[in-house]
Parts: sequence; structure tokens; C-alpha cells
Amino acid sequence: MQHFIDLSTLDRPSKEKLLEVAAEMIPLAGRRTDIAAGKILATLFYEPSTRTRLSFESAMLRLGGRWLGFADVKAASVAKGESLADTIRTVDKYADIIAIRHPAEGAALAASLYSDVPIINAGDGGHLHPSQTFLDMLTIRQELGRLNALTVVLVGDLRYGRTASSLALAMADFRPHVITVTPEGLEIPRHIYRSLRVDMGIHGSETRDVREAVRAADVLYVTRVQRERFFSDEEYQAVKGSYVVDEKLVETMPPRSIVLHPLPRVDEITVGVDGTEKARYFKQMFYGIPARMALIAVLLGLKEVELTCVEPAREEVDTECRNPRCVTKTEPYLPRYFSRVAGRTDPLFGGEVAGVFRCAYCDYEVGG
Ligand code: NCD
Repeated sequence: MQHFIDLSTLDRPSKEKLLEVAAEMIPLAGRRTDIAAGKILATLFYEPSTRTRLSFESAMLRLGGRWLGFADVKAASVAKGESLADTIRTVDKYADIIAIRHPAEGAALAASLYSDVPIINAGDGGHLHPSQTFLDMLTIRQELGRLNALTVVLVGDLRYGRTASSLALAMADFRPHVITVTPEGLEIPRHIYRSLRVDMGIHGSETRDVREAVRAADVLYVTRVQRERFFSDEEYQAVKGSYVVDEKLVETMPPRSIVLHPLPRVDEITVGVDGTEKARYFKQMFYGIPARMALIAVLLGLKEVELTCVEPAREEVDTECRNPRCVTKTEPYLPRYFSRVAGRTDPLFGGEVAGVFRCAYCDYEVGG
């Protein structure tokens, strides 16, 4: 059975086929079809959400199916101490497909180990958000007419934000040039940067100079500071408001370039940008419906699309992941799955990084 945990593990033809199905869904996104008639989607949201949850539910209704779920963990049995595994073993009897959002990194993969129905990762902590990434790629494909060889400028909190790094990783086989612009302390985690630059061979650079970066952008992808993931409020106050994309900045972008944002925005894009021809973040939100219609239809086998996963082999290893946010910390019964990563040179600091184990749940690297 196919789950949808990490878009970057699908090969390029699979991503293209999925995007093709999503493009076919665009004209159907405003009306009701009977593609998934009789099917039930469960939405299990252990974290706040407006767009992701409602658009999954709307997508299922548009497909002619139905949905059930919870949006508040206080109302679910997890508040009584139920494990994630037991919740999934329950809900897979009530639904044909499950979309789950959870604060722990790797929670969706963990859920998939106990599910008899397809699991969709609707965001696992600061780790990944593949359905958002999929709709981001659909937006770029539709709005720019291509995905290949684009300069993508990622602005914001790349340390805790899951959408920007998810996008860079999933677009890797479309050979982007990736420029990251972050406030100090919110840089993309080193292991993700190494994956992009060394393992995937992506060209790119890191800078603090947003003005310089946007001049080359085909896509300017802005994200908010992820206040809820900071360990202290002082840490948040120190970086709050440190970058703002306004009309003046947008005017310096190349012709035909676009501004995206997964939303919600706080103060990082001024409302003045909304009316410019480069702003596509509201359109991007619309693409969430056909993108999620496509995902549900394909995973339920209602659209014949063969997806090929290129995941590294995982093995059970007698060690602990050191990421305090990893799902293995809160769900201790989980098997300790890791993949092996060969030694390589760190692109920023130079020097050889020893071969490591990479946690299969959260991708954190554990020394070797
Ligand atoms: C994003 C998320 O939840 O990661 N929102 C979304 O799904 N559209 C971005 C964010 O919360 O900043």
C-alpha cells in the first residue's frame, strides 16, 4: 500500500504523473464529482490548521466522498494517554484514508507502520509538509509553465519551518538553484543543507541579503517565523519582524517571477504586495484543492498512477535518535529505524563528516 509521507522520496516521473493528475483536477475543483463516492477520509489534526485541514476535507467532498476527524486533541483519546499507534489502529477501521498532522517529527511515518489504509502526512512538526509541497509545485508548474532549472529563493524561518525545506528537497530532481535567506539562528538545519548540496548536488547559496537574492528569483517563497516551535519567547522576540517583503522589494524581481507563501502570514509580506502581479499566494491556496483531490484519488487507487519510491533502505539499529522533537521520544515503542549515510564533506564548513545513521522518522543524523 502506498502512503504519502515524503514527496522527495518519489522519483521525478512519479512527481510528474501526480502533477498531471492534479492539473486534470483543476477544472473539477469548484464542483462535485463522484470519483471517491462511498469513500471516507479521516483528518487527525493534533496541531492547529486552517487551510490544510479544510482543503483536505473540501477536496474529499469535491471528489464525492465524506470525511470525519478531529481538529482538537483535547477532544480525542490522546488526551487520555492513548498512543499514536492505537489511535491509528482504531481510525483505519473507520476510514479508507487518513490525513494526519502531528507536532512530533516523523509522526506520519510512525502512523503508517500501524495503518491498514493510506496515510497522508499533513505536517509532522518542523520536519515535512509534502501535501503543501505538492501544491507549491503545482502552483509553480501552472503559473510559470515549468519546474525545471528555476531559481528558488527561500526566505524566512528555515530552521523550524517545514514548508521551505520540504520544497527544496522535493524539487531537487528538477535541478533548481536554491538561495536561502534567513535571520541569524534560523538557518536551514545542517543535515538538510548537506542533503541538498552534497547528496542531491543542488546548486545554491546562503545569504542574509534579501535584496540581492530576489533579483535572481523565479520564485520567491516566503515563510513566517514559527513562533510555536521556539523553546523560549525571548528567542522569538529576537528575530520577530526581521524580514519584510514589500512592494518595493517585489518590484526589483525579474519579470514573470512570482511570490509564494504557504500562509498564514503574520507580518513578513505587506498587504501592499497582494495586489501586485507577482503575488500568487492566494492562487497557491486554491491549488491546494486540486492537489489534494489528486493525492486522495491516486492513493485510494481511483486514478491509475504508478508511483516509484526511491527511499534508502532502513534497518533497525540499537541506538537512539538525538533529536528531542523526534516521534520516537514521545512514542517509545517505535522500532528504531535508521538508514546509513556515507561520509562526505560539509559544503559550508569543509571537513569530512563521518558516515552517519539517519533517523528514518525525522531524518536527523546520528554520529557514526
Ligand atoms: C504551513 C504549515 O502548517 O507548515 N501552513 C500551511 O499548511 N498552509 C506554514 C506555516 O504554518 O507557517
